[in-house]
Amino acid sequence: MVNMLKIAIDGPAGSGKSTVSKIIAEKLNINYLDTGAMYRMCTLKILNKNINLDDENKITEIIDKIDIKMENNVFYLDNKDVSEQIRDEKISKNVSKVAAIKFVREKMVDIQREIASNADVIMDGRDIGTHVLKESKNKFFLNASIEVRALRRYEELINKGVNVIKEEIIKDIAKRDKLDSEREFFPLIKADDAVEIDTSGLNINEVVDLIISKIGEKND
Ligand code: DC
Repeated sequence: MVNMLKIAIDGPAGSGKSTVSKIIAEKLNINYLDTGAMYRMCTLKILNKNINLDDENKITEIIDKIDIKMENNVFYLDNKDVSEQIRDEKISKNVSKVAAIKFVREKMVDIQREIASNADVIMDGRDIGTHVLKESKNKFFLNASIEVRALRRYEELINKGVNVIKEEIIKDIAKRDKLDSEREFFPLIKADDAVEIDTSGLNINEVVDLIISKIGEKND
């Protein structure tokens, strides 16, 4: 059987993972899976149902039956397009807590592996290289200083017409970094065999080209 291409991209919020992954998917004509969006959909479902984020029993019950679909970067929760809604600040502020729940992670990882089992894929997240696609030969860990990451997020929100304060964004990102990297189950961590790329001084195309050239080397 011909080996399938599995590319794992991990890194903290604002490191450029999703922008870069989307472009690489187009260039290589493979599927792109934004795993953060899946945890965001779980969070939206839980908040819509007014469930307390500490109530793991209720969360398990709801997430066990969750109906999510992803098609060409459009995200459906219970057959409704929620692609915009899952980017709301309310979701960003709560998603790290939901993503730390063991059952939520197990359920999402099952779906992610099922998707990867029958297609070439580039996946971005926090635990892709260490857990979801542990066997992949193509692992990358993107990073950038917190100031650069917060500025990217700030500009993205301002361009969308959302009124935000830069210092607040720095605080929110620092809080998410801490929760994501210190959680018990599959925290944000670089896989030993991942190539680390500091994107602070690079533009998007430079990061894309660097990753594609490394994939070429690894699969020669
Ligand atoms: O990449 P993002 O900002 O959309 O991710 C949202 C949250 O989901 C982030 O705080 C960490 C969590 N996440 C995770 O724990 N594991 C993943 N594979 C992807 C995201």
